[in-house]
Amino acid sequence: MVARNITLRLGRLEDAAGIAILSRELIESGLGWSWTPERVARSICNADTVTLIGADGKRIAAFAIMYFGAEHAHLNLLAVRPTHQRMGLGTRLIDWLMESAQVAGIAAVSLELRTTNDDARRFYLAQGFTEAMYIPRYYCGRETAVRMVRELRSRNLQPGQWTWPGKY
Ligand SMILES: CC(C)(COP(=O)(O)OP(=O)(O)OC[C@H]1O[C@@H](n2cnc3c(N)ncnc32)[C@H](O)[C@@H]1OP(=O)(O)O)[C@@H](O)C(=O)NCCC(=O)NCCS
Repeated sequence: MVARNITLRLGRLEDAAGIAILSRELIESGLGWSWTPERVARSICNADTVTLIGADGKRIAAFAIMYFGAEHAHLNLLAVRPTHQRMGLGTRLIDWLMESAQVAGIAAVSLELRTTNDDARRFYLAQGFTEAMYIPRYYCGRETAVRMVRELRSRNLQPGQWTWPGKY
């Protein structure tokens, strides 16, 4: 099934609380709440960050927050409401973000996710990301993250030579 009635648009300040609640429920469950409405609002206002919404009318069906650096972009958050999953919506958000990153001259996009999140790992593998490394105690000083990377253009570097800006 394809979610044809979903419109992609940029996030607005009034979306901050809805995004934060979805993040707490779908991404940060059991980890506390780091993406609070205030933090999401700061991202929405940040010129280096894109907040993308998949809108089903007035309802947020999906969202993504991605930071754009000079050469790297970092996907901070991405989630699709359970009622709208497996309809290609996550793929639409990724396609939009990767196209924007390519236009912006970004060489690689990275993200971290919980190693226990097998569904999302499969999703990102299907989107052309590869698993680059494990980061123990990344979440709340106790849970391991897996860093995934998608190369958008060659940088003539070996993975060991990449520099990452650290924890996001
Ligand atoms: C992971 C997530 C974003 C996927 O979004 P989605 O809109 O359902 O994904 P799509 O419909 O675009 O799926 C594309 C492909 O990814 C893979 N995939 C997606 N969800 C999957 C799942 N639950 N199990 C296995 N593979 C999956 C499949 O290959 C799928 O293609 P198919 O449906 O033709 O088999 C969504 O499940 C979600 O929001 N999960 C909770 C939040 C989360 O974990 N976010 C990521 C960490 S920040």
